[in-house]
Amino acid sequence: MDILFFSAQPYDIHYFNQANQQGEHRFRFLEAQLNEDNTALIKEETAVCVFVNDKVNAAVINILHEKGVRLIALRCAGFNNVDLKAAAAVGIKVVRVPAYSPHAVAEHAVALLLALNRKIYKAYNRVRDNNFTLNGLEGFDLFGKTIGVVGTGNIGAVFCKIMLGFGCKVYAHDIYENEELLEAGVKYVSLDTIFGQSEVISLHCPLMESTRHMINADSIASMKMGVVLINTSRGGLVDTAAVVAALKNGHIGALGIDVYEQEEHLFFQNFSGSIIQDDVLSRLTTFPNVLVTAHQGFFTKEALTQIAEVTLNNIRSFEKSELLLNEVK
Ligand code: NAI
Repeated sequence: MDILFFSAQPYDIHYFNQANQQGEHRFRFLEAQLNEDNTALIKEETAVCVFVNDKVNAAVINILHEKGVRLIALRCAGFNNVDLKAAAAVGIKVVRVPAYSPHAVAEHAVALLLALNRKIYKAYNRVRDNNFTLNGLEGFDLFGKTIGVVGTGNIGAVFCKIMLGFGCKVYAHDIYENEELLEAGVKYVSLDTIFGQSEVISLHCPLMESTRHMINADSIASMKMGVVLINTSRGGLVDTAAVVAALKNGHIGALGIDVYEQEEHLFFQNFSGSIIQDDVLSRLTTFPNVLVTAHQGFFTKEALTQIAEVTLNNIRSFEKSELLLNEVK
């Protein structure tokens, strides 16, 4: 099948070519994002392969339909950037990669937590500057602390198990309880209890209308002073302006984010020679207790290999008119 990739980075090209060594499909890779301005780039392709920040709204979908595209293959798990109703209305199928190395994202959440708590990013710079003092690098033992986990699906479950391994008390909130986690010692509690009792809160639930801005001025007010907040899920779960206010008054003790509400205008691109126009992100990066990574939680060899293989399997199933196991409806 002819597939047009949007938002393609060198690593996408590498891993997709590796998964297509038999030459089953023909690829065209574009760095450009898919949005209303870029649909003219589509030629003969039957499928478009998109990532988290491509804008696949109703207007784009109608143009895809006119151009003969019959499949939207997401090379990610989240699908909040695709108008599924509009796709169904014109008969375009949407497939995704529902799970790929949950360890990659869970371990990244832990990396953010450890780096923030033990000030590894500061220590790295300090030692390189021949400054071997410890003032300001003090952290706290994670052992025995209460960790609140919102969402215990694939990624949240792995995160819970890692935290149990650290000797933490793990509180979780989800609409479904995971038996294996219960047996391992995780306690399911209300969202209010997570907010009120946790020293660290990590978000692993999807972004939906019901979860948008679940971290807001009111929920922050109910949290412990100095709480550490980690978000590797989706930026929209957090009201960033409220978080900035809470960082300023010390209510939030540290913030680690791999996702940001307005990331689609910034992440995966190099603006090192430019002035960033996003004042909220610019403010965030001035705090000494904030660590921002640019949506790299998924970025391991294992996850990239799986993403490429599952995406091409999805496309193969579509081409052969087989049951689409990973269809999003
Ligand atoms: P999943 O679908 O396996 O788990 C999500 C869990 O959230 C489910 O158990 C679901 O029941 C639960 N949930 C739904 N609504 C909820 C609510 N209102 N409150 C609490 N829990 C709720 O998804 P997975 O694979 O664990 O991914 C979690 C999130 O991580 C995704 O939604 C995605 O946004 C994000 N993600 C981030 C990546 C990164 O690179 N930073 C990479 C992959 C995913």
